[in-house]
Amino acid sequence: MRVIAIVNQKGGCGKTTTTTNLAGCLNADGARVLVVDMDPQAHATLALGVDPETVEENLYEVLSDPASAARLIDVCIESREHLFVAPSGIVLSALEQKLSAEPVESRTDRLARALETVTEFFDYVLIDCPPNVGLLTFNALRAAREVIVPLEMSYFAIHGVQKLLETIALLSERIGHEVEVRILPTLYDGRTRYARETLSEVREMFKDLCFDTVIRQNVKLREAARRGTPINFFARTANGTLDYSALAVEVEATPPALEAESRDSVVDPREVVVRFRDERASDVRIAGDFNGWVPDKGVRSLIEAEGGDRVWTKILQLAPGRYEYRYVVDGEWREDPDNPEVETTAVGGRNSVLVVR
Ligand SMILES: Nc1ncnc2c1ncn2[C@@H]1O[C@H](COP(=O)(O)OP(=O)(O)OP(=O)(O)O)[C@@H](O)[C@H]1O
Ligand SMILES: [Mg+2]
Repeated sequence: MRVIAIVNQKGGCGKTTTTTNLAGCLNADGARVLVVDMDPQAHATLALGVDPETVEENLYEVLSDPASAARLIDVCIESREHLFVAPSGIVLSALEQKLSAEPVESRTDRLARALETVTEFFDYVLIDCPPNVGLLTFNALRAAREVIVPLEMSYFAIHGVQKLLETIALLSERIGHEVEVRILPTLYDGRTRYARETLSEVREMFKDLCFDTVIRQNVKLREAARRGTPINFFARTANGTLDYSALAVEVEATPPALEAESRDSVVDPREVVVRFRDERASDVRIAGDFNGWVPDKGVRSLIEAEGGDRVWTKILQLAPGRYEYRYVVDGEWREDPDNPEVETTAVGGRNSVLVVR
């Protein structure tokens, strides 16, 4: 059973649309799919044709009491054959408050425990998250092995994503559980130059972490949500169906990689040391394609004073290859001043280049 959380703290970027329509397309390919609606707004529940007002029990019952984990299967509602939804409701917004007195460990693994009881029933679990990084998203990240971050191409703020990836990395570090994050460009309007440029910048920045599939703007997606059905069962030839079907194929073709240890043993990483010197900076991190552009992810840092300067030493574990990176100096992205080798990106930025032999 693959568990995939759809996460972005930005509202309206296509999380719910991605969750329900990817679910529909995986289902059409023959998979048994469960959508877990972790958003108290219950949009995914509605988009799968279930009225949250009329369901008797929802996820709140399952998550509020550790003894109720096994009840998950009882609250699941069949939207169509082999496509189920674990419904949400506004009451879910009270969960954080209700569990506030409990230790972090026990209040953040509620969903993971509940999902353990349904592994034999589903091939895919897709978790729709609310637009914030609170207890509900925390539970989703803990339960998932994979994360899809929908990124709206029309109002893209690269710093917003960096922040989000950083948060995900931090959370997964804190809970000692690694997730594989991938970026999905959404709400793409190829007629505007801005969207085209944004897409190429995102591709360049995230490389393999970015899906090949791009979700175009398509009004039929809104219509499908209103009708309570995934788009592929209602407008077979719409762009929304084509795009989410392509995404389903891509997801099916790329199960999560092997666990980190076995990956590392194959690639034979080397220790690489880089240094950054500055007299004013108070925080310096490094981000590149080697760590998914998440500042300092997987990096050991040392800070020393030398004369009037401070020197940041960054120790990276890299397999032989060519890498692009930048420093993040007090939140500002800069190339390495001591490295003459740079690569100009498609949109005019400059990344420093590091080659490990
Ligand atoms: N590719 C698309 N083309 C056209 N409309 C879209 C597309 N994707 C999403 N929408 C519409 O944009 C709105 C926001 O999308 P959606 O609800 O999926 O975002 P969200 O990230 O789940 O939002 P929230 O953070 O509030 O949960 C919805 O009305 C949805 O129907
Ligand atoms: Mg949503």
